[in-house]
Amino acid sequence: MKKRENKVECSIKHIAFIMDGNGRWAKKRGMPREFGHRQGAEVFRKIMRRCCELGIKSSTFYVFSTENWKRPKSEVNAILELLDNYLDQCEKEVMQNDVRFIFIGDMSVFSNSIRSKIEYIEKVSENNTYIANLALNYGGRGEIVYAVNSLLNSGVEKISEDDITNSLYTKESPPLDLIVRSGGDIRISNFLLWQSAYAELYFTEKLWPDLTAKDVDKIVENFQGRSRRFGGV
Ligand code: FPP
Repeated sequence: MKKRENKVECSIKHIAFIMDGNGRWAKKRGMPREFGHRQGAEVFRKIMRRCCELGIKSSTFYVFSTENWKRPKSEVNAILELLDNYLDQCEKEVMQNDVRFIFIGDMSVFSNSIRSKIEYIEKVSENNTYIANLALNYGGRGEIVYAVNSLLNSGVEKISEDDITNSLYTKESPPLDLIVRSGGDIRISNFLLWQSAYAELYFTEKLWPDLTAKDVDKIVENFQGRSRRFGGV
């Protein structure tokens, strides 16, 4: 990283986060899992802001997967309520961070109220510099199927890799450089399957609510020390 005109710069153009460990963080404190998600949402805001400050064009956050519906109803409702409340009050910080929100995943399952809040924030932020993709009711396999179906519906006869890349939910973002997973598990969990083909991976034992802006700086430094060969030598 180098500082130029008061702005820290880094070579990452697209970073993604699997925000794992909220439940364990709460349990360690004798609190319900929902408490961990609330803290996780605060940390999401800090990490997103740091990504923008670092000049990272695009960041993607795994908020709610297509598999997360299997959780107890009370927990699912708590996460959706957090999201709903956040959508009510995020406009100011979205504009201050100069970030464009794009919600990726199948939004059709959400209430009209949530969907219209999502559409509103996407619209008001659409000309901002940075991108934050918020993955909601998202699965990587489902995303590839969605891309292929969009292409078939457009009448193409043959599909190329570029066609798929340009039909994914993340089509507005540069190629993925790095996936970060907190919480100690070493797996991808159906996240950005197509995009991760040549992404670097970074796993930390830290639970998501313990992550700080300084950790992002360390992760960026670690990334910048890596040699990416994309299959070459
Ligand atoms: C995984 O931790 C976390 C989730 C499934 C939810 C992620 C949601 C947030 C961080 C809140 C984001 C909210 C907004 C408004 C953007 P886990 O519950 O699986 O943790 P565990 O592995 O310790 O049980």
